[in-house]
Amino acid sequence: MADIYDNVMELAKRRGFVWPSAEIYGSVAGFIDYGPLGAMLKRKIEDLWRNFYVVREGFYEIECPTLGPGAIYRASGHLSGFADLMCQCPHCQEFFRADHVAEQTGLENADALLAAELEACLKDCVCPSCEEPLGEIAVFDFNLMFQTTIGPGSKRTGYLRPETAQGIFTDFGRLLRFYRDKLPFGATQIGKSYRNEISPRQGMIRLREFTQAEAEIFIHPEEKNHPNFARYSGYMVPLRGIAEQESGAEAEGMTMREAVDAGIVANEYVAYYIALTHDFLVSAGVNPEKVRFRQHLPTECAHYATDCWDAEVFSERFGWIETVGIADRTDYDLRSHSAESGDAFTVFVPYDEVQVIERTRIIPHMGKIGPMYRGKAKPIADALATAVPGEDGTEVVVDGETILIPADFYEVREETVEVRGEEVMPHVIEPSYGIDRIIYCVLEHRYDEEDVDGEVRRVMRFPPRVAPVQAAVFPLVNKDGLDTIAQEITQSLQQAGILTQYDDNGAIGRRYRRQDEIGTPYMITVDYETSEDGTVTLRDRDSMQQIRIDKEDLAVIVHRLVSGACSLDDLGISSS
Ligand code: GAP
Repeated sequence: MADIYDNVMELAKRRGFVWPSAEIYGSVAGFIDYGPLGAMLKRKIEDLWRNFYVVREGFYEIECPTLGPGAIYRASGHLSGFADLMCQCPHCQEFFRADHVAEQTGLENADALLAAELEACLKDCVCPSCEEPLGEIAVFDFNLMFQTTIGPGSKRTGYLRPETAQGIFTDFGRLLRFYRDKLPFGATQIGKSYRNEISPRQGMIRLREFTQAEAEIFIHPEEKNHPNFARYSGYMVPLRGIAEQESGAEAEGMTMREAVDAGIVANEYVAYYIALTHDFLVSAGVNPEKVRFRQHLPTECAHYATDCWDAEVFSERFGWIETVGIADRTDYDLRSHSAESGDAFTVFVPYDEVQVIERTRIIPHMGKIGPMYRGKAKPIADALATAVPGEDGTEVVVDGETILIPADFYEVREETVEVRGEEVMPHVIEPSYGIDRIIYCVLEHRYDEEDVDGEVRRVMRFPPRVAPVQAAVFPLVNKDGLDTIAQEITQSLQQAGILTQYDDNGAIGRRYRRQDEIGTPYMITVDYETSEDGTVTLRDRDSMQQIRIDKEDLAVIVHRLVSGACSLDDLGISSS
């Protein structure tokens, strides 16, 4: 295959998987439409993700608006820091991401460079568009958020969300109550995110509107051992840690237990979601030989995160693509929203045993403090409640002013109290998936061409559970009642919840090829034997083998095959 990308995208456009958006108006880079089969493939991959995170992990899904007020993004740091470094060609006036241009010099990880370092690199680069030398040009920040105003004539600024995560953080208090005030718990969200990417030229890889599937898992900061770690402790994953990257070594396969014990992955939680992500990607149809997990270098890792890993998938056209980011985000997000909103963002964690402690408490005499300090009386009383009493009075700070409160304005009490627990700000573990990138990788990895009887057979070898169409039914000929039986079978499969296409158009071989191209795993043909004994042929897309089965058993068998409850080998078809 000369260039798999061109072949995949040609098939994807022709068969209704992916189209350029607003094509009749010339399209805008960074936006795509999913056609009928693409939308179905996407839905199936999202449902598989839900199966992993919502059903198996028990992290309920929420749905927040894609447009939010500025306060959210001031707190999250996106307003001040979510920018790419940009440059403009002085000859053709085109804008580019400065790190992408700097990669012309052979630099890896140019995105970790500062503006001045990039400016130095760009001197030796040419414009990717007009190919003129760039020379001395400025590199400057470009915030990637789309900005708008909320309401007519309004001055209220709103932003399209650059990640789905912030909705989960802002709903923290309500989620905590939903989960009955106990750690750990998780919440998920699948939806559109928006980034005004500077020059998106990589098809489905860098979009301005894309779908993320994110889980935010809230855990006790001192309990980073995963309660179900045993599920994945022996699971083997290729890891490319910091050491491998620094020495230029390839990823090394190791179990999650080994990775945590060797200190390569920071904790069991991060390791658990690395393994689960690998499991998910392979189940969705990504080739397991083309997946690796790369640890962020200290220069890339966000300052608040203790450990970050990217699931990278290899593409013939684009090289290693980051499809999922898995991070231990510590308490950064909750702390930031707490500071911005004034809400607590903490969880009361009861001790195993009630603790008895001695404490000194100051009881203010409001009868004296009120007349003396008037408007400041209440803040002074609040400050006294947590202050340490001095010998000749107690100092408190109110509105930045230090005030010495005389000792006869309060009483000091020694108390013995029972303490049942403490308020804790949880840490967040975040696996963040880019659904569109995963879809592209699945399309590329599942695309296959083979020679059959001197003709090229193009097949999308999707795993049956993510294939957009699960079954196709053909009458051998459109007469003698075969078409009626085939239509009845189609309806019975559809009634059983199996997405089934009926096709009576053209030679049977052509009909097989059409379904091969869209990845339909099971094809059923109604022939003259069907009208005699009620059996049909069931053809497996990958091996092209056929067996005869009773048409009454079809719905159950196809259901079981699609869900993985039975295999082709069980039916006597070799799956190789
Ligand atoms: N909440 C964390 C977060 O958003 P990220 O690494 O910026 O982290 C997560 O994004 C994933 O979203 C990426 O691994 C990638 O798959 C996807 N993604 C990010 N920007 C994208 C874009 N412009 N187009 C398509 N997918 C994108």
